[in-house]
Amino acid sequence: MLLRASLVCVFIRNCHSLLDMKQMKFPKGFLWGTATSGHQIEGGNVSSDWWRWEQQGRMHGGAVSGQAVDYWNRYEEDHALMESLGYPVFRIGIEWARIEPEPGKFDREALAHYRDILQSLKNHGIKICLTLYHWVLPHWVAERGDWTNPETLRHFERYARYVINELITFPDLWVTVNEPMVAAIAGNLLAEHPPFRNTFRDYRQTAVSLLRVHAQCYAFIHDAARRAELKKPPRVGIANAYPVLVPWGSRGWKGFYEWSIARLGKYLACHVWDNAVDTGHARLLNGFRQIPGLRGSIDYCGINYYLRMSLRFDHSRRDRFFIDETGVPPGVRSTDTGWQIYPSGLYKAIHDVWNRFKKPVIITENGIADISDEQRPAYILEHLFCVYQALQSGIPVEGYFYWSFIDNFEWRKGFGPRFGLIAVDHRDHNLVRYPRPSAHLYSQIIRENAISEELIGTYAPELMGPFETILKSGNRGRAD
Ligand code: FCB
Repeated sequence: MLLRASLVCVFIRNCHSLLDMKQMKFPKGFLWGTATSGHQIEGGNVSSDWWRWEQQGRMHGGAVSGQAVDYWNRYEEDHALMESLGYPVFRIGIEWARIEPEPGKFDREALAHYRDILQSLKNHGIKICLTLYHWVLPHWVAERGDWTNPETLRHFERYARYVINELITFPDLWVTVNEPMVAAIAGNLLAEHPPFRNTFRDYRQTAVSLLRVHAQCYAFIHDAARRAELKKPPRVGIANAYPVLVPWGSRGWKGFYEWSIARLGKYLACHVWDNAVDTGHARLLNGFRQIPGLRGSIDYCGINYYLRMSLRFDHSRRDRFFIDETGVPPGVRSTDTGWQIYPSGLYKAIHDVWNRFKKPVIITENGIADISDEQRPAYILEHLFCVYQALQSGIPVEGYFYWSFIDNFEWRKGFGPRFGLIAVDHRDHNLVRYPRPSAHLYSQIIRENAISEELIGTYAPELMGPFETILKSGNRGRAD
């Protein structure tokens, strides 16, 4: 009897370790989360530049953010849902246009409301990652020349000091600026986003201003944390975009042109920022500026990663430097927004930032527009697989935030693209929240702090081979 019982115990223990073997385990305390920004979900951001442009019909199909998904009023419900799904971290943004709707007039009620939102997250046991600037300006700032006006830096400094001092006790992580180079390029070189300009001069000034803003905020946040004597000081970084840009592969000089633009684009979109933070100097083709306090001013490297773009020469695209970046090569999967799915680009981005900065890495955004939710599970698993590979090679990746927690106002494309784990029909007056199946899949991954063979087999069978290989090499390195 005793023998049989101990045999059963041994059997159960073995089964358990066998099960363990069939999982890619993430490190203990890995920061699982979801991401959003203020303007894209709150609704009613009426004093902002985007709101004005929307009213003027500058978005696709005349889209307006309107009440968005009304997070401003429904945050409590959303946080309860997030807690029930077991998502431990939430990245949200704070809107300058709400805090300072008119020059120098701070809206204390708006600030108190943000405080309530942050307190509610705390009450639900959810950690906070707070973004200070996610592309949206107060209308009055935009009217005065936005980031190309040196005064804007002074105004931003006043706003940033105010909110940082008031909210310093809440966030665990801060993102000073979201995708600074995308903001500079989309708004100033490609005329895709407000203020719809296309001059290199404006791109350069915007990029330099955002670098300055970042350096300032980095110092303010650490100062405020010291003054508040926080037991655990927050960590500060930015969320930089690292798209993969490759030439389409046309023949002859067109091919050379595509290759050159891919290199230049990558430089302007990613490397300017990385070089600047690394060296303290912004090198922008025709200039070299030293930026006080910039060098080394990140506690973690935030990576926003979504896609690969293949750049093809197109003589009709004069406004876009004769490049069409929307083509999808045959056989390559793409999303509802036509973005190429290319998970290994995430692995490369992680490697590159680690090699350069040797600071912990957090994936501050990664996600897919997929209204049917058919591709999302594989997308998540494939990208997490890359995160796992990076961990196995010894890189301290500390977190992953899926974009987006909830369907949102997707900038110029309005409510068309559906990135959310939670679906919302914005035309429905009640804005009911419906978790998509992948919301539960993500919960399972978080609960187990691991990706199981079963999940891979069901949703991303093409990863079975690499999955077996990586498990054979052992759940070692930083995984617990
Ligand atoms: C990123 C933006 C984010 C969202 C996703 C889809 O570049 O930071 O606001 O629009 O793309």
